[in-house]
Amino acid sequence: MDSLFDIALMTNNYSHDIATAILAISGAAMWMLSRNYPESATQEMELYFVRIYQSITKMAKYSLIWILIAGVPRVTFYKQYEWSTTAGDLQVIAIMIKHIVMFLLVGTGLFYWSKLSRRVKLLKIKNNTGG
Ligand code: HEM
Repeated sequence: MDSLFDIALMTNNYSHDIATAILAISGAAMWMLSRNYPESATQEMELYFVRIYQSITKMAKYSLIWILIAGVPRVTFYKQYEWSTTAGDLQVIAIMIKHIVMFLLVGTGLFYWSKLSRRVKLLKIKNNTGG
C-alpha cells in the first residue's frame, strides 16, 4: 500500500512538470500561429484560426488547472519525498524564486491570451459563429 502511494505521488510530481511543459508549448504555439497570421486572411483561414485557438486554449486551461491541483500534494509531501539535506533550507528560497518566475511567465501569457481572445471574438462575430 505504501509503495503504491509512493508511485502515485512521484507520478503526480512528474505530472506537475509535464503540465508546465504542455502549458509552455501551448503558449509558444499560440504565439507562433498569431504572429504568422496573414493581414488579408480568407474566411476559411479565419475559421481555421478560431478552431485552432479554441483547441490550444482548452489544452492550456487544463494544463494550468492540473499544475495547480498537482502542486498541492507535491508541496504537502515535499519534505518526505524531495527534500535535499545538502541544499538545506536554501531550497525553500529556490522554490519561491522558481515559482515567482513561473507566476510571472504565466501572468504574461494570460495577458496576451486575453488580448487574443478579443480578436478571436471579433472573428467569430464577423463569421457568424457565435460571440
Ligand atoms: C502557474 C503555476 C505553477 C507552475 C508553472 C509551476 C511549475 C513548476 C516547475 C516547472 C517545477 C519544477 C522545478 C524544478 O524541478 O526545478 C515545480 C516544482 C514544484 N512546484 Fe510548482 N508550479 C506552479 C504552481 C505550484 C503550486 C500552486 C504549488 C503548490 C501548491 C507548487 C508546488 C511545487 C513544489 C512543491 C515543487 C517542487 C519544488 C521545486 O522543485 O521547486 N507549484 N513547479
